[in-house]
Amino acid sequence: MSIAMVGDKVFRLNTKAFSYVVYIGPEQLPMNAYWGPLVEHDSDFADAAFAREPLHFPPQHLWPQEYAAFGGLFQKETSIRVCFEDGVGDLRLRFSHHTICDDHLCLTLLDQDRPLTVELWYRVRENENIVERWCCVKSNVAQPVTLINCATAQFSLPGTGYCSTNFTGRWSGEFQQKTTPIDCGKLVYESLYGLTGHQCGPFFAVHQGADETDGMVWFGALAYSGNFKVTVENVCGEHLNIVAGINDSTFQRTLHNGESFETPHLFAGCAKGFGQMSRTLHHFALQKLLPSPMCRSVLPVLYNSWYSTEFAVNEQQQLALARIAAGLGVELFVMDDGWFRGRVDSTAGLGDWTADSVKFPNGLTPLIDGIEALGMRFGLWIEPEMVNPDSELYRAHPDWILRYAGREPIQWRNQYILNISNPAIQEYLFSSLNDLLHEYHISYLKWDMNRYMAEIGSVGTEQEDFALCHAYTEGVYSLARRLRNAHPTVELEACASGGGRVDYGAIQYFDEFWPSDNTDPLDRLLIQQHYSLLYPPKCMRSWITDDTAFNGRQIPLQFAIYTAMCGALGIGVNLALKDSETLSAIGCYIEQYKAIRPIVQLGSCYRLSSFEASPLQAVQYLLENSGVVFVFLHSAQYGKSRYRCLLQGLKPTNLYSCRAGDLCYVKSGSYLMQHGLELILHGDWSSVLVTLEAVEG
Ligand code: DGJ
Repeated sequence: MSIAMVGDKVFRLNTKAFSYVVYIGPEQLPMNAYWGPLVEHDSDFADAAFAREPLHFPPQHLWPQEYAAFGGLFQKETSIRVCFEDGVGDLRLRFSHHTICDDHLCLTLLDQDRPLTVELWYRVRENENIVERWCCVKSNVAQPVTLINCATAQFSLPGTGYCSTNFTGRWSGEFQQKTTPIDCGKLVYESLYGLTGHQCGPFFAVHQGADETDGMVWFGALAYSGNFKVTVENVCGEHLNIVAGINDSTFQRTLHNGESFETPHLFAGCAKGFGQMSRTLHHFALQKLLPSPMCRSVLPVLYNSWYSTEFAVNEQQQLALARIAAGLGVELFVMDDGWFRGRVDSTAGLGDWTADSVKFPNGLTPLIDGIEALGMRFGLWIEPEMVNPDSELYRAHPDWILRYAGREPIQWRNQYILNISNPAIQEYLFSSLNDLLHEYHISYLKWDMNRYMAEIGSVGTEQEDFALCHAYTEGVYSLARRLRNAHPTVELEACASGGGRVDYGAIQYFDEFWPSDNTDPLDRLLIQQHYSLLYPPKCMRSWITDDTAFNGRQIPLQFAIYTAMCGALGIGVNLALKDSETLSAIGCYIEQYKAIRPIVQLGSCYRLSSFEASPLQAVQYLLENSGVVFVFLHSAQYGKSRYRCLLQGLKPTNLYSCRAGDLCYVKSGSYLMQHGLELILHGDWSSVLVTLEAVEG
């Protein structure tokens, strides 16, 4: 049983791999008794409720609460803060009752003397090794109650010596993994960008010095694409306090009598090493979160000319590229930015989602027919949340943007943000995109978002400023949901100036992500490695391009395309300028990719080695009896060309046939994991792809 009670005060939650135990402690407050590897003997926790009071003055501050309320004697980061109309600014929550229904547990807390309840929800995803948490606040108070903070969940881990791993980064330098000791004080990872942003991720991964394969990692991924806040706090050198949820700096919600508010959800777990943490989350995302019907099938190889043509697209040019792409084995041809009314550059057109009559005098049908006749599907770029001042939409509805009354609205990339939380604006966007999808045979949309939120004001509605940020994110989800429901087979990609909207909220609406505009293969290998800490390679779009703008270096085709083959392969080079030898090489790599694609996209991912600590970067994928290993060397030194790479996840007694080009040998799983795969990598920018197949012993 995934949920059991031990006595009448202890709730034991078990997945296949770990236990999470909550007890009702002093002052009737739910507290954490244990979170770690599976403990199967339930009665071990029978006395959890009588845990010794911490030696502190006052002890309340150190209680390992599951959801602490602001006020009272808890001076650490708390989960919820309200203000009642009479000025009372605290909550005195007490456990009232519980319900268990299948894999759900709900602990209901009630304020000591006002009818405001807080439900703490737990869902045990037993087979996926995830405990899902969220919270729901309900008010039956006669006067309005202002919710000032309402986090999703709070966690406590005993003792000290913890480190926290997250990302830092920026546009084109996303997903730089960093680890920080939490020796004292608080570390806050947050977004105030209006969306997930490029700077850090809405998750926590804490440990006491874990690496890829060893050391326990406790993690939680927030299913949220808006302003978030994750606080990791050392409390008095005694325990670690973690609070995750919507960022309270830009949040507020008024609850009238009878109203309730539900937070975003969070997926928590613990695993041995970062590798296991990643595979747990990847597997969960593939099995339970990614939208159907594409969640179980592989993503197509796509072509996109953005890096070659930018805004200057037209029918003849796109068709010419499509003819070459089809010959190489491309399955989906995507036209990026530049196709819609007035879109000559970034100054015009956003908001008007109809084909530009100068570039496409006969609409998009001739182009789409041509692409489909070549055996490919067709996809388009959109940026629905935005509007250029130079657009029909803005001229008709200047009041639809986020702005403060009486102030000049702030432009960025020549655009304003539409207030997508407004149902009328949502309706306009849905109907214009719905019309587009009805008018044309479109199989894929790249949904971009190219600016951060500045003014969180809205003119002409009664919306509270601080309610707007969260309502905006809900508006994005609602539009994506409606589009998916109306067009279930249209593939959706999330892009936000590269990887600005990659998170466990978006993953439930989008089939794939664009992790970065930086396609330099060396940078990209590290971006991809760190991206995979949380997110599955299947939904990581990865292209080869001709772009050398970032670092000014040319990298050989094989190194570049093997980098892109580590995720969902895309081709973004200018095919019209490539010689026939290069084109035929790209065609061969695409064929090779299609043969290994199910293993890369649907298998388990093992990060074997990183340029951060080794001359080699290597990643392995395993699906049942088949495997693929990509190994990269960026610069040769001292004439060394023989390397060994320790594989992971194989069955020790199985024999595996290992193939790299013409080379083929058979080795046991234990040999490959302990002695290592032997490789020859000669010269700068070498790379090798090795396939593994279990053979009869
Ligand atoms: C930003 C994206 O990250 C790029 O891939 C491209 O689609 C441009 N926007 C188009 O404006």
